[in-house]
Amino acid sequence: MEVHATIQAFRRAKRRLKGDLGLVLTMGYLHEGHLSLVRAAKAANEHVAATIFVNPTQFGPNEDLSSYPRDLDRDLALLQAEGVDLVLTPVPEEVYPPGFDSSIDPGRVAEPLEGAHRPGHFRGVVTVVAKLFNIVQPTRAYFGQKDAQQVAVIRRMARDLDFPVDIVTVPTVREPDGLAMSSRNVYLTLDERRAARCLSQGLADAASAWSNGQRDAKTLTAAVRDAMSREPLIQLEYVSLANAETLEELTGAVTSPALLSLAARASKARLIDNVVLGAVPSASRR
Ligand code: PAJ
Repeated sequence: MEVHATIQAFRRAKRRLKGDLGLVLTMGYLHEGHLSLVRAAKAANEHVAATIFVNPTQFGPNEDLSSYPRDLDRDLALLQAEGVDLVLTPVPEEVYPPGFDSSIDPGRVAEPLEGAHRPGHFRGVVTVVAKLFNIVQPTRAYFGQKDAQQVAVIRRMARDLDFPVDIVTVPTVREPDGLAMSSRNVYLTLDERRAARCLSQGLADAASAWSNGQRDAKTLTAAVRDAMSREPLIQLEYVSLANAETLEELTGAVTSPALLSLAARASKARLIDNVVLGAVPSASRR
């Protein structure tokens, strides 16, 4: 595995790789969720590249940029064990040199949900993803369903701006009790960690109501609110039931596929999770 900190050295190494290239973009502090993307990339491409970059422009002024967990040596060992060919680990000045002054407007799909609670977040995400797509020029790029709006925004950007890359969505990897894996889970105290089960529990309650024929938007989101209200250590920030592609909020009788998503806060951690109700099989969703 080759590891490069500069774009120039990375590009030179990349030119030597022949055949399809799968790309996994990360902010590091890797867990099984990230590694599932690497495995999906490995299974469908001759070569796999990964990036580890805590992107400052997608953090708000009062967010956790300075405390975001980092462990580069461990991350590189994990990527090497998965058989990754090439890793880019740039410093911020490499990605944003002096004078950097352009960005991509992520459009309407970035407005609700996370976009409404984290102003500027998706502008930072799509701009860095576009840069990394241009640097790596992969055949396919792999993203986690855990960040459902992020995938929707990146799909829209790639389609609208004609990026020649296939965007592949990989299912959410969960802890045994259902909590979606996240680098930010380390911010949870032991008691909060136990209580955080209510996120996936609420989504599961709504999904089982859906399976039993429930289609009323208010009733489905109420199932999430109920599960969350039983855990005083976790505060629900929002719950939404939206068109899975446009993310427009749904009311009344819901048609599928619909994205049921939520964000919640513990003392230090902000957590998100989601489930798609009436999902079509992943092969036809690509
Ligand atoms: P990060 O939070 O490190 O996540 C990197 C990738 O791993 C994303 O595609 C994310 O959706 C996926 N991922 C995280 N947790 C997952 C889980 N439990 N199951 C499946 N996939 C999971 O998302 C980012 O970084 C950044 O915004 C980035 C795209 C790298 C741009 O800076």
